[in-house]
Amino acid sequence: MLPLRMLGIGLLMFSLCDADTACSEKHNPLSLDPPEIIGEYGTEVLVNCTSTVLHDGMYWRVRNESFVIEVQENFIGQSVLLSDWNVTAECKIKLNESHECSKELEITTYKNPEVLSSIKLVHATPKETQYELKCDTINVAPLQNLIVKWYKNDKLIKTNFFNDTTKTPVNESSVLPVTVSRGEEVQIRCEAQLNLVPHGLQLPVVFQTLNVLAQYPPELNPKKDIDYIVASQDGEITLECKAEGNPPPVFHWTYNGMTMSESSNTLNITRVNASATYTCTASNYLGKTTKQIFVRVIQREAVPAALPTAEAATPEAEDCPLTLTPSEIVVRFGDPASVNCSTSATNAVGMGWESSVGGTGFVPPPIVTWMVAKLEDWTAVPSCFVTLNTTDDKQCSKSPTVILYKTPDTVSISAVHPGPMVEGTDFHLKCDVNNVAPVQNLKVKWYRDNETVSEQMFLHTNTTPQNVFSTLIITAKRDYNGSLYRCEAALHLGPNGPEFIPTETSEPYTAIVGKSCSLPHMV
Ligand SMILES: *[C@@H]1O[C@H](CO)[C@@H](O)[C@H](O)[C@H]1NC(C)=O
Ligand SMILES: *[C@@H]1O[C@H](CO)[C@@H](O)[C@H](O)[C@H]1NC(C)=O
Ligand SMILES: *[C@@H]1O[C@H](CO)[C@@H](O)[C@H](O)[C@H]1NC(C)=O
Ligand SMILES: *[C@@H]1O[C@H](CO)[C@@H](O)[C@H](O)[C@H]1NC(C)=O
Ligand SMILES: *[C@@H]1O[C@H](CO)[C@@H](O)[C@H](O)[C@H]1NC(C)=O
Ligand SMILES: *[C@@H]1O[C@H](CO)[C@@H](O)[C@H](O)[C@H]1NC(C)=O
Ligand SMILES: *[C@@H]1O[C@H](CO)[C@@H](O)[C@H](O)[C@H]1NC(C)=O
Ligand SMILES: *[C@@H]1O[C@H](CO)[C@@H](O)[C@H](O)[C@H]1NC(C)=O
Ligand SMILES: *[C@@H]1O[C@H](CO)[C@@H](O)[C@H](O)[C@H]1NC(C)=O
Ligand SMILES: *[C@@H]1O[C@H](CO)[C@@H](O)[C@H](O)[C@H]1NC(C)=O
Ligand SMILES: *[C@@H]1O[C@H](CO)[C@@H](O)[C@H](O)[C@H]1NC(C)=O
Ligand SMILES: *[C@@H]1O[C@H](CO)[C@@H](O)[C@H](O)[C@H]1NC(C)=O
Repeated sequence: MLPLRMLGIGLLMFSLCDADTACSEKHNPLSLDPPEIIGEYGTEVLVNCTSTVLHDGMYWRVRNESFVIEVQENFIGQSVLLSDWNVTAECKIKLNESHECSKELEITTYKNPEVLSSIKLVHATPKETQYELKCDTINVAPLQNLIVKWYKNDKLIKTNFFNDTTKTPVNESSVLPVTVSRGEEVQIRCEAQLNLVPHGLQLPVVFQTLNVLAQYPPELNPKKDIDYIVASQDGEITLECKAEGNPPPVFHWTYNGMTMSESSNTLNITRVNASATYTCTASNYLGKTTKQIFVRVIQREAVPAALPTAEAATPEAEDCPLTLTPSEIVVRFGDPASVNCSTSATNAVGMGWESSVGGTGFVPPPIVTWMVAKLEDWTAVPSCFVTLNTTDDKQCSKSPTVILYKTPDTVSISAVHPGPMVEGTDFHLKCDVNNVAPVQNLKVKWYRDNETVSEQMFLHTNTTPQNVFSTLIITAKRDYNGSLYRCEAALHLGPNGPEFIPTETSEPYTAIVGKSCSLPHMV
């Protein structure tokens, strides 16, 4: 009977001619715990080796290095540093002086990848854009366990496996063609995962997400390729060139044809001093779009309130190609008012109304309307202007005549001194007309019974309502006794005025003529 130990050697003897050979698979006296190692590159792992037979010594050999020989025990532990990609480790046992056998540890060193995604335009049409998305998995090992998955809006659309058995880290790419329609936004996710689940290891998924939009040349939003801006002299304005495109456009501005340094979609002008045309160009590699902004500068001078007529217009008004319809308006205080301004000029680039009320912006020709629902501004002097496309950017303006009127609140008659009248002497009557405008259009008429005895007009230039009065001097006569004096205030507003002349009449004043015979009593 051979001892157990001898039996084991006997079995081994058969297969081992060489001194350093693997023990038979079936009857290997060595067992490893764990039998297989999965470890991340750079980490250290521990493994135990146990022998089921007696021996002359057991030890570990890691790479080309052998470790301390254990003679007493049937068990030997070892740490293995996964510092390279083909680490080998085997547990060895000396059966006798000349024979040993070993068991190799299966080692898988892994490296979870980094993911870099990129996008390349293949073809763009106005309706859709074709892209090629690339997902680079950097430094991944072992490649055969790598799975790359593509998701479009969270839906799995493609999976890539890799057959290569390389153990060292490699870079791999996976490519996905994607077509995106204009206005659509697609989210593409590329996920890389080392599938080591069969080895009992769940590794985190590495991913990158790309939002993919169609590419298109810049477009103005809103789609206005001409803008008109009115600015006051030395004022501050901001010009906007809102254009959208993908890739985002770059902006260029010109001022009366000269290139400016500005490169954003807004242009700030801190002291605007001359009317000019600004042009903005928004471009990307797919195309460009242009917007013109006409800036009209107006002088902020105090307009004399007393001259609310065409005289206030600029001297060039004569040649100014503007037609005002009507050219004169007569408006009752608080009533609506409107005047059309049109131009026949073919080179007009914009026009507008400047006014304290009802002013308009700068608008495209050929017509612009000044409109006020309730005209209550006594000093309103609207002026219509036009900017012409000439080398010097000529501008001119015209003002309509605006007559704003108000009938008097009261028309009343009174005696300056108490009566009665004394035959042959002067008697003064006063007519008060309160709160009327414009006074220069006012005519006050005096009546004795049904006969006109006096008329008065006023030379005021105020356009605002005034209180005025008229005085009538009567040399009293006996037959005036009992006559009725009245005064009448009428606003003569011309051919454009109301059909019936607005007229207000006072209550009558009854003349009482005393007898001149009272004189002798006083002597
Ligand atoms: C070692 O074992 C082998 C095989 O069992 C045998 O052939 C050999 O003679 C032994 N050597 C010694 C010194 O025992
Ligand atoms: C290896 O043996 C040591 C000592 O008995 C033990 O603490 C350790 O858990 C063992 N390792 C494995 C992986 O079995
Ligand atoms: C193991 O190999 C390395 C180079 O590959 C060498 O530098 C080192 O000396 C070797 N160690 C032994 C114990 O042979
Ligand atoms: C793998 O091992 C071989 C032989 O030991 C060695 O020549 C080679 O450099 C090793 N490769 C790496 C990447 O460590
Ligand atoms: C990977 O291997 C499988 C089976 O061997 C084969 O069907 C498949 O085409 C291979 N894939 C690649 C990308 O080589
Ligand atoms: C993989 O890519 C990284 C980064 O680009 C580079 O540093 C590395 O050398 C590459 N590895 C291989 C195997 O090409
Ligand atoms: C223009 O001015 C506004 C505020 O006045 C400022 O927010 C904006 O950044 C300025 N734009 C440029 C291009 O300077
Ligand atoms: C406008 O301002 C610029 C710079 O301040 C000046 O050079 C130019 O003469 C001014 N133009 C007019 C018309 O005042
Ligand atoms: C102004 O023009 C519009 C049409 O453009 C017309 O309806 C309106 O009656 C005109 N108003 C005046 C005051 O001529
Ligand atoms: C202004 O006139 C020039 C030359 O006639 C022309 O090229 C340009 O388009 C005109 N601009 C506008 C806004 O009409
Ligand atoms: C004034 O009235 C008288 C009689 O009431 C009449 O005869 C006369 O024609 C009138 N005169 C005028 C100017 O209306
Ligand atoms: C004037 O008329 C009044 C009555 O209406 C009368 O009393 C008075 O005497 C008259 N005066 C003259 C001068 O006739």
